[in-house]
Amino acid sequence: MKLLGIETSCDETAAAVVEDGWRILSNVVASQAQLHAKYGGVFPELASRQHLVWILPVIQEALAQAELDWGELDGIGVTYGPGLAGSLLVGVNVAKALALAKELPLVGINHLEGHIYANWLAPEPSSKAPHILFPALCLIISGGHSNLVLMTDHLNYASLGSTLDDAAGEAFDKIARLLGLGYPGGPAIEEAAKEGSPAAFDLPRAWLGDSYDFSFSGLKTAVLREVQRYEKQTRTSQPKSLRKRRGSALPPGLPVEDLAASFQQAVVAVLVGKTKQAAEEYQVETVLLAGGVASNQSLCRQMSEELNTPMFFPPPALCTDNAAMVASAAYFRLERGLKSDWDLDVVTNLNLG
Ligand code: KG4
Ligand code: ZN
Repeated sequence: MKLLGIETSCDETAAAVVEDGWRILSNVVASQAQLHAKYGGVFPELASRQHLVWILPVIQEALAQAELDWGELDGIGVTYGPGLAGSLLVGVNVAKALALAKELPLVGINHLEGHIYANWLAPEPSSKAPHILFPALCLIISGGHSNLVLMTDHLNYASLGSTLDDAAGEAFDKIARLLGLGYPGGPAIEEAAKEGSPAAFDLPRAWLGDSYDFSFSGLKTAVLREVQRYEKQTRTSQPKSLRKRRGSALPPGLPVEDLAASFQQAVVAVLVGKTKQAAEEYQVETVLLAGGVASNQSLCRQMSEELNTPMFFPPPALCTDNAAMVASAAYFRLERGLKSDWDLDVVTNLNLG
């Protein structure tokens, strides 16, 4: 079964063709990151307008790269939430129109489900379908979410915990901005951290008892306090909040690399610690990492060192937003006869389950 996937929930305009849920025939991602970089984050109206401009050429490119005609497709999967309303609307509307015109089934996909299903994709053109056993524990860590989810079977999710404040990726993005490292913050922090010491600063880790929830706001404030300490030392004006710091000069001598490394280690320690604990409590067969933050190599390395459970994590290009993951999830839905009606709406705060 060959499915077209469409993804426009945030700032990537993406289309892909995937066969049988695992073999990627094409995977086209037009990133708007450069467009939004000067705003230090995604500018929603700009994002939806850019999706409108790019979506059809991106879909045409996905079909061309897969060397397929419309008649060879078996369905269309599209992200309908969670995400930015204006961005989601572009993808869903295009998917509906194409599915109606080409008489193909339409499958609405939860973006988080898509991230999870990136693990079912063959990581390389030459590799086989990954063999994933249930129950599986999924750690979904993206710009908008930090969730621990238990998957007892395909499409079956139970939430064990989620973030109480900032998502992991959001924390990376905010700290990168604070340290003058630019947007998107995750890769920039990871790069800077390579030159720093993770033990240089003793930053807080929010364990929240036995709970599988996450909180990164205390850690974020602690990094801000360190920056303010350097600022005071150099007698420059004291910033009042993270937001007000945007564009302001960094205090001279600020050990950016050490702060980046210590921050990254504090996030990784909590993500690894909670995942390990949940994997043992629920005696899972597999741990799956998903979402943009799962492309962090330091996280993947420490996770595989600490866990006693077989672990999967997609290659970086399949961790961040793409449409191959959407097409894969759509396959597992369509295979079970699950498709959407023509009145499919976008759901900006869609939950998994
Ligand atoms: O999954 P994703 O592409 O989009 C959302 O669904 O949000 O995730 C984007 C997030 C951003 O916050 C970005 O900073 C973070 O993933 N990210 C990383 C890395 N690459 C992307 N965080 C840490 N380390 C990375 N290497
Ligand atoms: Zn995402």
